[in-house]
Amino acid sequence: MSTSRAGLFIAFEGGDGAGKSTQAARLAETLESRGLSVLRTREPGGTPIGEKLRSLVLDHGHGHIDARTEALIFAASRAAHAEQVIRPALERGRIVLTDRYIDSSVAYQGAGRGLGSEAVRTLNEWATSGLAPQLTVLLDVEPGVGRSRRTAGDAAEDRMESEADGFHAEIRAAFLKLAKERPEAYLVLPAHLPVDELAGRILARVDSLLGPDSRGGT
Ligand code: TYD
Repeated sequence: MSTSRAGLFIAFEGGDGAGKSTQAARLAETLESRGLSVLRTREPGGTPIGEKLRSLVLDHGHGHIDARTEALIFAASRAAHAEQVIRPALERGRIVLTDRYIDSSVAYQGAGRGLGSEAVRTLNEWATSGLAPQLTVLLDVEPGVGRSRRTAGDAAEDRMESEADGFHAEIRAAFLKLAKERPEAYLVLPAHLPVDELAGRILARVDSLLGPDSRGGT
């Protein structure tokens, strides 16, 4: 798979309720305070068509969605996202932080829905023309903990979130397997660590990828 030459592409992955968006926001804030150009985005979504696909696949009430249809909708959303948003931003030298990317499909549709990791990976490499992140931050969350974090304050669960804990356990194992296969491209952190500690560890790894000119003086 190709990685981009310009810019820096970082994906945040993990189970539901892992705190990915909080950490992506913290990292973006720090990098922007150094004058770096950061784009924060998310999947499914990130483009007008992607947001429509997001509600199709996540909202309840569209009837039964079989596993292959679900995988194709996520992949279609990702194709638009990679082509229209991520690649152009990287070509302009921006740092792109995405909340979820291909690994989410490999874990949720490949493992969780039983479509197989290889088939789902192949589909998504085709969809994105092989655009891969240089770093994936995996926030590892225990399924029960993730559920209580995301339902705090009575937030309603979407179609994927409302799956049983067993489904989420398979997803967790699949994410960890991906990280184990390519440790150089992953930073795995237990999601239960304090927010500041997580942010510090993520920044340290990102700094090691940025040239010395882009690192803060602090
Ligand atoms: P999201 O709303 O981003 O949830 P969270 O805030 O927990 O990250 O993600 C939507 C749901 O869609 C989430 O349960 C994971 C699932 N999903 C897949 O099943 N496959 C995919 O390829 C992606 C991107 C998300």
